[in-house]
Order: sequence, then C-alpha cells, then structure tokens
Amino acid sequence: MKIAIDGTAASGKGTLAKGLAKKLGYDYLDTGLLYRRLALDIYKKGLTKFNLINERGIISNANINMLADITLNLTLPLSDHPDLRKQEISHLSAVIASIPEIREILFKKQRMFANKPPSKAGVILDGRDIGSVILPEAKIKFFIDAKPEIRAKRRYAELKGLSAEVQEETILDDLIKRDKADRTRHVAPLKQVPDAFFIDSSALNADEVLQIALNYING
Ligand code: CDP
Repeated sequence: MKIAIDGTAASGKGTLAKGLAKKLGYDYLDTGLLYRRLALDIYKKGLTKFNLINERGIISNANINMLADITLNLTLPLSDHPDLRKQEISHLSAVIASIPEIREILFKKQRMFANKPPSKAGVILDGRDIGSVILPEAKIKFFIDAKPEIRAKRRYAELKGLSAEVQEETILDDLIKRDKADRTRHVAPLKQVPDAFFIDSSALNADEVLQIALNYING
C-alpha cells in the first residue's frame, strides 16, 4: 500500500509519516530531504538563494545543468543531517524545488522507490506534491496544516539545538514565505487534492495526530 502525506512547512508531516511507518512496518521517504540535500550541496559550492537566481528571477542553464548532474547521482533514501535543517538551506531548497528539470529527475527516483520499497510491505512519502503528482494513485492521502504561529514554535524548538542564532520571528517569516512560494510555483505546487483527508494539527500533539490518521486508515 502507498500512503501520501502533503502539507505546509513544519506542519507535522514528517512526524506523522515516521509514526505511521513504525506502526505499519512500512518504508518512509522524506522527499523534502531530496531538495534539502541538493541545496546543501550547492551551498557548499558557494551558491546561495541570491546568486542562484539572476536579477530577472531566472536560473542560468549552467546552474540547472550542474544541479541536474548532482540530482542524477542521488540514491534514495537519503540520510538526515542537522545541516540540512538550517534556514539558509530551507530557502535554497524551495528555489531548487521550482525548477522543472530537477523535479522531473526526482519524480522518476521517487516513483521507483515507491514502487519497490525495500520492506516490500508498503511505503509512505511526505512532501508537497505526493498526492497530486508523485503518487496520485495512493489509496490513502493526508493533507496536514496548522496555524503558522504554532508551526513556527514547533520548528523553533527543533532548530534551537542546531544554531544559537535562530529566532522564532524569522522562522515564522520563513515558513510563510516558503508556503507562498510552494503554493504559487508553476510546477507541482503545494495543494490539497480532493481525495486527501485533512488534519489541522494546531491543537493536537503527535500521538493524537497519529491516532486520527490510524483511525482513518482502519476505518
Ligand atoms: O520540513 P519542512 O516542511 O519545512 O520542509 P521539507 O518538507 O523538508 O521541504 C523543504 C522544501 O522542499 C519545501 O519548502 C519545498 O519547496 C520543497 N519540496 C517540494 O517542493 N516538494 C516535495 N515533495 C518536498 C519538498
């Protein structure tokens, strides 16, 4: 079975996906990590959000080709690392996520993983376009959201350990900007598909969200 989880930034998608994967014995792919990995790789080469895009808002063919080469070499699933969660990497990942050529390569890799999960039991993918583009055939789809202030608080608690400079207001600002960019981009925008089950996690803890999701799956 395939489970698709989409939602806004820091809404609790990953926590739900991990909880379900553990409970059901399924494989889990955090697709945000793919974009974050690419962002970290080019950040290490000296590129930032500001010099990846030119004055006209365009990414050069040379940069797209360089990114495509790195993308082709990715093997899934990727391992997590605290550096992937830093704010400059979040910014850059959302810029990379708007490049159709890169999404096309990642589309194939994500589908291959979902069709042949190592456990052979089932697979859970979380991201922005899982229910709409990557796994439109998934029988179970969730869309997770929460009030921006609550999401910022949760993300702040996660990031505090990683960087001394992190501030809740800049996190809130980042989440709002990233949601807007993700919802309005031309390719695979963030959206709730009609067959997704919506969960507002604003007033719920991780166990409560997991229980609601399990009830829906078993119901
Ligand atoms: O953890 P958080 O919700 O903040 O973000 P993430 O899931 O790690 O994704 C980072 C960025 O990658 C998002 O803001 C999107 O721009 C992009 N992304 C995407 O476009 N499509 C996906 N399936 C997953 C992530």
